[in-house]
Amino acid sequence: MTTDPGFIHRFVPGTAPGRAPLLLLHGTGGDENDLLPLGREVAPGAALLSPRGKVMEGPMPRFFRRLAEGVFDTQDVIRRAAELAAFVEAAQGTYGIGKPIAVGFSNGANIAAAMLLLHPQALAGAVLLRALAPVDPPSPPALEGVPVLVLTGNADPINPVPKAQRLVDLLAAGGADVEHVVVAGGHGLTQKDVEHMAAWLARH
Ligand code: MLT
Repeated sequence: MTTDPGFIHRFVPGTAPGRAPLLLLHGTGGDENDLLPLGREVAPGAALLSPRGKVMEGPMPRFFRRLAEGVFDTQDVIRRAAELAAFVEAAQGTYGIGKPIAVGFSNGANIAAAMLLLHPQALAGAVLLRALAPVDPPSPPALEGVPVLVLTGNADPINPVPKAQRLVDLLAAGGADVEHVVVAGGHGLTQKDVEHMAAWLARH
């Protein structure tokens, strides 16, 4: 299947040379502007690449199609993860940046998880906020030493702890250096998430 790797996006050049660029991936109904303030807060001076999901659910952009809440169109997940991986690779040449660390929230975290599981070479690492495994990899992904922070709300009804844990197990089976932090909260982000992310990103 041919896909158009182009995405509507924002790019903010980095000003702190030591910082890895961030790939910012919004949640359902968000857009390319949503996570720029968060990116600036948790990684000051990092280059920011922020695409808009191409799949429309009514008026709401997403990164892949779902049939119902938590019921995903697997073929679309596979196709969109490939498309986003191609976009990220092309953007590195276009903007002269290195491989990015993904920071994704909700649907954005789930497409980042799909990229890690299906295209393990695409990302330098990831912060997954309220994520689960949107797809089963055909074999353990080659993620030796790739750092991943998974932040889960202990009362999240959409991405509950056991589902997040399954993702953590799949990533760890591929050799990723995964840290799973469960914070007090639901699906929405809390100040604790921001603090954990900022501290983790400062180390990576
Ligand atoms: C998804 O569809 O990826 C998850 O259910 C999270 C969401 O976007 O609501």
